[in-house]
Amino acid sequence: MSIAEKFAAMEYGPAPEDSKEALTWVDHHSRRFGHFINGRWLEPAPGEYFDTTDPSTGEKLASVAQGSPADIDVAVKAARAAFPKWQSLTPHTRARYMYALARQIQKHSRRLAVLETMDNGKPIRESRDLDIPLVARHFYYHAGWAQLLPHEFPDYTACGVVGQIIPWNFPLLMLAWKIAPALATGNTVVLKPAELTPLTALAFAEICHEIGLPAGVVNIVTGDGSTGEALVKHPDVDKIAFTGSTEVGRAIRSATAQSHKRLSLELGGKSPFIVFEDADLDSAVEGLVDGIWLNQGQVCCAGSRLLMQESIAEPLIAKIRERMITLRVGPPLDKAIDIGAIVAPVQLERIQRLVNQGVAEGATCWQPQTEMPSRGLYFPPTLLSNVHPASMVAQQEIFGPVLAAMTFRTPSEAVELANNTAYGLAACVWSESINVALHVSAQIKAGVVWVNCTNLFDASCGFGGYRESGYGREGGKEGLLEYLEPAWFKHAPALPVANPRSGNANSERQATKRALDPAEIDRTVKLYIGGKQARPDSGYSMEVGDRSGKILGEVPLGNRKDIRNAVEAAHKAAGWAKTTAHNRAQILYYTAENLSQRRDEIAHSLSAAVGEAQASAEVNSGIERIFSYAAWSDKFDGAVHNPPFRNIAIAMNEPIGAVGILCPQELPLLGFLSLVLPVVAAGNTAIVVPSETYPLITGDLYQLFDTSDLPGGVVNIVTGYSSQLLKVLAEHDDVDAIWCFTDQASAFAAKSFSTGNLKQVFTNEGRAIDWFDVKQGEGRWFLQHATQVKNIWVPYGE
Ligand code: NAI
Repeated sequence: MSIAEKFAAMEYGPAPEDSKEALTWVDHHSRRFGHFINGRWLEPAPGEYFDTTDPSTGEKLASVAQGSPADIDVAVKAARAAFPKWQSLTPHTRARYMYALARQIQKHSRRLAVLETMDNGKPIRESRDLDIPLVARHFYYHAGWAQLLPHEFPDYTACGVVGQIIPWNFPLLMLAWKIAPALATGNTVVLKPAELTPLTALAFAEICHEIGLPAGVVNIVTGDGSTGEALVKHPDVDKIAFTGSTEVGRAIRSATAQSHKRLSLELGGKSPFIVFEDADLDSAVEGLVDGIWLNQGQVCCAGSRLLMQESIAEPLIAKIRERMITLRVGPPLDKAIDIGAIVAPVQLERIQRLVNQGVAEGATCWQPQTEMPSRGLYFPPTLLSNVHPASMVAQQEIFGPVLAAMTFRTPSEAVELANNTAYGLAACVWSESINVALHVSAQIKAGVVWVNCTNLFDASCGFGGYRESGYGREGGKEGLLEYLEPAWFKHAPALPVANPRSGNANSERQATKRALDPAEIDRTVKLYIGGKQARPDSGYSMEVGDRSGKILGEVPLGNRKDIRNAVEAAHKAAGWAKTTAHNRAQILYYTAENLSQRRDEIAHSLSAAVGEAQASAEVNSGIERIFSYAAWSDKFDGAVHNPPFRNIAIAMNEPIGAVGILCPQELPLLGFLSLVLPVVAAGNTAIVVPSETYPLITGDLYQLFDTSDLPGGVVNIVTGYSSQLLKVLAEHDDVDAIWCFTDQASAFAAKSFSTGNLKQVFTNEGRAIDWFDVKQGEGRWFLQHATQVKNIWVPYGE
């Protein structure tokens, strides 16, 4: 071929990256790695190893230790021993260590990129230009936080020893997302990399050693799911951070439910990629290349569901096909390759199986006639069209280079389709109208929305999911909070073990019957559902006594059906989230005003149950608490981030939805207000089970809400046995979060019962909270749990 012909054809020649340095590093370790524990390489306890291979060739790269529970135990002990000293270093000293890690990663960036590509199969173009630079950026960014921590989080402290489990799709990047915030906030770490891709975590361990990170601060234990399980179950781990499949996330949630371990989960997704008719279609197609074909589609936030406005579906599909033909599938170390190898045979089989199933369900499959390598694990870029929104390929995470396309007519239909999934990790919205794009972005239930761009990440912008995509954020200030807790809370004393009621109406009645004096029954309240007083479905009531056993009145005995009605009412009132913050504040101020007017009357009736002094203190503090949250309503703002691209990322504090609340027993009024107000101030609706000790306060509260213009359904109150109602609320699929502030047993029960749909659960962990103390009883800690951050990325410039 002449030069002129070559110039005209513009064909790619081979452009292989040299693997020598990376292989020399592996050889330097004799291609055999133990665990990195307490600053040293340790042989695994039973001496078992497994192979890690290059999926593009099938060749073995190294033997890696299979971690046992005994290995995990040694690592956790090392992390525990290192914790006090690491936590008490000056912020500047910790910042210097973090900075040194960032520098050292940069110095070895090429070797790390090659190693990542060889172990995982991703194109070197991606590991070199995306993964490793972001890894360094995470350590730089968090070095800054280590320095600023006492100024920005003065009353917070580290969780302690953190167990971290990461997947194989972005091995070193996921490590950085986990380790950088944990170390910056003073925690020590035991991290388990994925069994398919352990090498860069081991290279990172060596970097920790090189920079002189104190022994035990970072421990890396390799192994499969059983190693992860041992880490999750270890009793001396304070927090688990997990990224991976929803199935394993659920298992971890279940394994940690009966413990005080904090948990953050970054799980799967089936993210919509929405293209409106006014979008720049060529840009959208390029976005799609990154959206679904980055890392062979093995990306939790991959734009795997293409939603096209009907009017442009045909030309868009034509452009996508045209672009797919040009995608090059091949050896990932070739610098001009777009799609590399699939990580492992099991993943390749899964992709093929799901595509076959999609076709069997009626989808049309189109693949370009791309030249495929003769060996290694590869799957061509694939387009499934005519996909039914309910079909399996539109609902399940395929985790491969497979795009499922469907159409919509109107923006509201687009939103409906976008949200028609159990997941809620990310979304892309393409439209030249910023109004349409932002309007739609606000309605999508996802933690990240990219407007006219896709798969952009930065350490300053939180990343994480809604719904079954998990909870907790990585990156940004909200990511740091996952590794911090209020210092007072960490040291709060345990509540005395409660003596729950039997849960049996008749026996309860027998127990209190002797004290019943009908002449003194002056209170009968109802349930409060959808802004109306309602009789209980059961037709039973529960007697309420004072501390001496004297009967004060009766409240309805709520059951499953009442909760169901209350949840329905809470969902019908979802418009509360859209009212202006100013409006919400006004309604809360008005509630305070009305409570103030009825101060004596309410204090009097409350005093029958809790004594005069407490009753009056509760009412006075209650008025102040309502004022506080009225104030917070329009001040708990989001942020605008400036990531290092021509983008702004708008971080919005969005309400979670319908929140089930179990109120503390000891303070019937102040406890109720302290939990319900932050939930409502943030735009959520609530289904509340008031204190079992004095639920009669319900009657006063609904009169208060009724006279303060609170829209019906925003607060719903169901009285009854809190342990029974907790179970119903926690298991209810339409309850989005549970706040449970009773005793330890209930805290554990709330977590266990809600494992199925992975609800966010916020509890006192059975610890005593001084609700009168404004530092403990109100403020940001509660508001943070009442909201989830959505980052909307918007590019600017030409
Ligand atoms: P996985 O969820 O099984 O593995 C992720 C990590 O969890 C690995 O380190 C693994 O060793 C560990 N693990 C497994 N079982 C565990 C247990 N019981 N307790 C504690 N740790 C445990 O993901 P896998 O099998 O690698 O991939 C299966 C599917 O999961 C993929 O096809 C994909 O759909 C999805 N996935 C999603 C990811 C995401 O980022 N959302 C990442 C990886 C996989």
